[in-house]
Amino acid sequence: MIDMKTHWDSVYGTKDPLKVSWYQEEPDSSLELIANTGASKDARIIDVGGGASVLVDRLLQQGHTRVAVLDIADKALDCARARVGDDAEKVEWITADITRFEPLHSYDIWHDRAVLHFLTSYRDRMSYVDVLNRSLSPEGHVIIGAFAVGGPERCSDLPIVQYDADKMQRLLGEAFRLEEQRQEMHITPSGNEQQFAFFRFQRQS
Ligand SMILES: C[S@@+](CC[C@H](N)C(=O)[O-])C[C@H]1O[C@@H](n2cnc3c(N)ncnc32)[C@H](O)[C@@H]1O
Repeated sequence: MIDMKTHWDSVYGTKDPLKVSWYQEEPDSSLELIANTGASKDARIIDVGGGASVLVDRLLQQGHTRVAVLDIADKALDCARARVGDDAEKVEWITADITRFEPLHSYDIWHDRAVLHFLTSYRDRMSYVDVLNRSLSPEGHVIIGAFAVGGPERCSDLPIVQYDADKMQRLLGEAFRLEEQRQEMHITPSGNEQQFAFFRFQRQS
C-alpha cells in the first residue's frame, strides 16, 4: 500500500513544479467559480491539496485577505510559500492529510482541484466528506475539479476516480445544491489533453 505523504513529498522533492502534469499557468476556472460565489474579499477560502498552485497568488492579488492552503506535502507548501514571498505571512499554511484534518475554524469556500479524485477507497471519501462538513460554514460553497467521466484514469502514477455531476451530488449529499458545472480541457506541460469537470455547490441552510 502506497503511503500518500511519502509519494507526494517525493513528487515535489524530485520534479519541477512547472512540469508536473497538473500545472496550470493560470487557474482561470477556479478563479471564475470562486468569483461566482459572490463571496466578499474577507471570506475564508481554503485550497485543499493546493500543492504549488498559483491560485493563492492570484487570490491575494485580487485582494482576498483570508486564504488558507492545505497540502499533505510540506515541500509543495514550501514551494508556494517561497514564491508568494512577503505576502506568505497573510496565508494560513496547513500541512495535513485532508481525510484527517481537524479544522480550527470554518471556511466559506472549499476549493479542491485534482485532490478528491485520488481517494479511491470508500472510507477515505467518507472521511473527506465528513471533514468538509465540519469545515464549511452553514451556507458555504464547495468548488471541486476532478477528472471527468471519460477522462484520464490515472494521475501521478496513481489510480483516480472520475466524476460527473450525479456522482458528485451523491457523494456530497442532499445538503448541497449544485449551482454550476463546467468541463475544462487541461493541456499538460507535455501537450496531453486531460478532461476535467468542475462543480460549484452551495450548502443549504
Ligand atoms: C494533482 S495535484 C493538484 C495540486 C493543485 N490543486 C493544483 O491544481 O495545481 C494533487 C495535490 O493534492 C495533494 N494531496 C494528495 N492527497 C492529499 C491528501 N490526502 N490530503 C491533502 N493533500 C493531498 C498533493 O500533495 C498534491 O499537491
